[in-house]
Amino acid sequence: MALIEIKNLKIHYPIRSGFFNRVTDQVLAVDGINFNIEAGETYGLIGESGSGKSTTGKAIVGLEKVTSGQILYNGQDITNARTRKQIHYNKDVQMIFQDSLSSLNPRKRIGDIIAEPIRNFQNLTTDEEKHRVQELLDIVGMPAGAMNKYPHEFSGGQRQRIGVARAVATNPKLVIADEPVSALDLSVQAQVLNFMKRIQEEYGISYLFISHDLGVVKHMCKNMAIMHRGRFVEIGTREDIYQHPQHIYTKRLLSAIPDVNPSRREIDKKNRQEVEREFTEEESKYYGANGRVLDLKQLSPTHYVALEEVSKEGSN
Ligand SMILES: Nc1ncnc2c1ncn2[C@@H]1O[C@H](COP(=O)(O)OP(=O)(O)O)[C@@H](O)[C@H]1O
Ligand SMILES: [Mg+2]
Repeated sequence: MALIEIKNLKIHYPIRSGFFNRVTDQVLAVDGINFNIEAGETYGLIGESGSGKSTTGKAIVGLEKVTSGQILYNGQDITNARTRKQIHYNKDVQMIFQDSLSSLNPRKRIGDIIAEPIRNFQNLTTDEEKHRVQELLDIVGMPAGAMNKYPHEFSGGQRQRIGVARAVATNPKLVIADEPVSALDLSVQAQVLNFMKRIQEEYGISYLFISHDLGVVKHMCKNMAIMHRGRFVEIGTREDIYQHPQHIYTKRLLSAIPDVNPSRREIDKKNRQEVEREFTEEESKYYGANGRVLDLKQLSPTHYVALEEVSKEGSN
């Protein structure tokens, strides 16, 4: 059994308008997605801004109301708040946000910020708590003195480390990392990703790693889903997605990864223009009515793509 199973999840927001403030339409932020996260693995969720990634992540931690479908945690449906409370779900599943400055309370000291989730679930003495906070700061490579400071006294990369320390404070089984490094410089990104990996190995945590950038998740995730317009256009292993992309939207995200090798830049640019042209001219081949992403078809035991017709991998 997977740690998390998402079954036909839909999250629709009503759009109200007019004098009577009636519901006139719906935003289909998430519109029928299915995937599993195994214990200890990092699952990637990738798509452009507005594709429904954060809504999915927030629904998994219980911050977003589910319109329909199921989220199973160790086989148990946690879509209602009472079940989540009963099984102490909020201790097991935590979230890290992109914007560390607004997600860390500016008026609280780092020590209190990190201790907060512990206080909700454990009764520690002041000394025990201090010890635990020190331990957590140490895990993310921050000095113990950080405890008495405020969020604004740190750089973006350091704040993201503090966000991770807070997220792992309760010994969670799953951490939803919503664009955890998107606001950071490239060199700092690598540092944060490295210690996230280290923590994962040490504590056996699963991550749902959300990003708009396929370059960032490449070395983090074994399995991933590419999301567009609230649905999945492609699911696969790292190899399926990076070596054998099938959907034009996946190809487009791949062509957007900057190449470190300057001599390839001209070729990359041509490739990007070609993919962009295909995306605009042949959209109807890849999408259904109203631009809806088609249902996924299976290509191989691990690889699924939202196309009208597919030829099975290996059989052609
Ligand atoms: N509370 C809300 N009310 C109405 N629409 C929302 C709300 N939250 C998000 N949306 C819309 O849902 C879609 C998906 O948003 P989001 O999950 O934040 O995307 P992403 O994280 O991939 O950028 C967007 O079109 C967004 O405008
Ligand atoms: Mg988002």
